[in-house]
Amino acid sequence: DRIAFVGPNGAGKSTLLRLVMGSEKPDEGSARLGEHNVIAGYFEQNQAEALDLTKTVIDTLFEAVPDWTQTQVRSLLGSFCFSNEAVFKEVGKLSGGEKARLALALMLLSPCNLLVLDEPTNHLDIPAKQMLESALQEYEGAALIVSHDRYFLAQVANKIVEIKDGELLLYRGDYAYYQQKKQEELELLQTSEAEAEKEAKRAANRLKQKSKAESRRKRPG
Ligand SMILES: Nc1ncnc2c1ncn2[C@@H]1O[C@H](COP(=O)(O)OP(=O)(O)OP(=O)(O)O)[C@@H](O)[C@H]1O
Ligand SMILES: [Mg+2]
Repeated sequence: DRIAFVGPNGAGKSTLLRLVMGSEKPDEGSARLGEHNVIAGYFEQNQAEALDLTKTVIDTLFEAVPDWTQTQVRSLLGSFCFSNEAVFKEVGKLSGGEKARLALALMLLSPCNLLVLDEPTNHLDIPAKQMLESALQEYEGAALIVSHDRYFLAQVANKIVEIKDGELLLYRGDYAYYQQKKQEELELLQTSEAEAEKEAKRAANRLKQKSKAESRRKRPG
C-alpha cells in the first residue's frame, strides 16, 4: 500500500514517521517495522539540510553508487531535472528545490522496499513533482507519505490515514474516496445538528403551550 498521513500542523505526522523509523522512541507502547525483511528509505521533512554542502552534485551521487558510470549518473540526474552545468555545482550553492531533488534522487537510489516520505514535495516545482509522482506510481514497494499537497496525494496514495486528536482514522480508499467520506460525515453532522435544533424548537414550543394552558387554568372565573 501507499498510505498517506494527513492532519494539521503539529498533529504528530513527522513524529509518527520517526517512531516508524526508530529514530525516536515511544513514551508508551512499541513501534516496529515487522520481520519480513523490510528495508526502509527515509526522506525527512528537512532532508535537504542533511546533505554535505561542500561536495558537488555529481560527487554526492557517486558516493552512493560508486560503481556506476559517469553516463548512468548523469542520466539519473537528468531525470531529476539537473542540467549539464548544474551537476558540477556545489550542493551548498543549490536552491532549496534543487537540494530536495538531489535528496530524493539519493533516496530512490538506495535499495529499499518501504519509502517513508515526510513532505517530499516541499520546494519542488511542477516538473519535479510530476517526476516524483511517476516514480512513486512505478515503485513496487510500500510507501508511507506525509503531505499537505492534496493533488500529489490524489496521484500517489491508495489509502488515507487522518491523524486527529492523537488517533489514527483509516480510510480504505484513495484521496477522492477520503474527500467523499469527509463530505458525507459533514452532511451527517449538519443533518443531526439541524434535527437537534428542530427538536429544541419543538420542545420550547411545547413548554410555551403548556405554560399558556396553565395560566389560563389559573385565571379566576
Ligand atoms: N522533540 C520534541 N520534543 C517535544 N515535543 C516535540 C518534539 N518534536 C515535536 N514535538 C511536538 O509534537 C507535536 C507534533 O509534531 P510533529 O512534528 O510530529 O507535527 P506534524 O504533524 O509533522 O506537523 P507539520 O504538519 O507542521 O509538519 C508538535 O506539537 C511539536 O511541537
Ligand atoms: Mg511534520
